[in-house]
Amino acid sequence: MIIRKYNENDNLGWVRCRVLAFLDSAYFDNVLREKEKYQNPAIELVAEVNHKIVGLLDLEYELEIGIVGYKTDELTGVIWHLAVLPEYRNQGIATALLNEAMKLLTNTNVKIIQAWTRDDKWVIDWYLRRGFILSEESSYLHVYAEDEECDYICDAKIKNLFVCSSFNHYIGPDKELIKRTFKRVHTCNLFELNK
Ligand SMILES: CC(C)(COP(=O)(O)OP(=O)(O)OC[C@H]1O[C@@H](n2cnc3c(N)ncnc32)[C@H](O)[C@@H]1OP(=O)(O)O)[C@@H](O)C(=O)NCCC(=O)NCCS
Repeated sequence: MIIRKYNENDNLGWVRCRVLAFLDSAYFDNVLREKEKYQNPAIELVAEVNHKIVGLLDLEYELEIGIVGYKTDELTGVIWHLAVLPEYRNQGIATALLNEAMKLLTNTNVKIIQAWTRDDKWVIDWYLRRGFILSEESSYLHVYAEDEECDYICDAKIKNLFVCSSFNHYIGPDKELIKRTFKRVHTCNLFELNK
């Protein structure tokens, strides 16, 4: 297994790895057809085994406070994508990707690393075991509404157009009400690590 920088020829392998790695997670339907490109400097790494991309990590970082990070007063980098194919997990690949990213960050003035996850306990535990701290006050809800659940949210303003499905963020205090009202609700957690 080698950890190396992403290059343009990796797009298809990157997308396949990300889709397959997210299928058994709470992000199962968050499908990308192309790798994201970043406006700010980014560390884009892949883990390769026998010419196949089996893991990936994208971390975008800011040169000016507040451009990339969420509510910090230090220069921040955000892990936007971290994934390892199911059959290659528990071999230390994600840890190796994170370690390499941290090594590359030593050449920058970034002081805080942030990562957003949903409510997969095994992923939350992975971040906690690597020293990340959960920022409870920044957590909010991802709410999926289907069919009649959409009626609680909005009335369509166009005649004969019906809202059948929607994805929503809930940042208010009554999380229990939202969880009772909608079938598919995820807690979106912010993790932070001081470099
Ligand atoms: C979270 C995720 C990236 C972790 O990937 P991974 O490569 O399995 O992670 P690691 O192997 O580094 O760590 C997993 C465990 O294996 C252990 N491990 C490390 N080397 C090992 C080895 N050689 N053999 C067996 N286990 C090993 C680690 O100690 C770790 O256990 P710990 O967390 O109790 O310390 C992966 O589960 C995943 O892709 N999840 C779905 C996508 C997702 O939700 N991404 C995050 C949101 S962006």
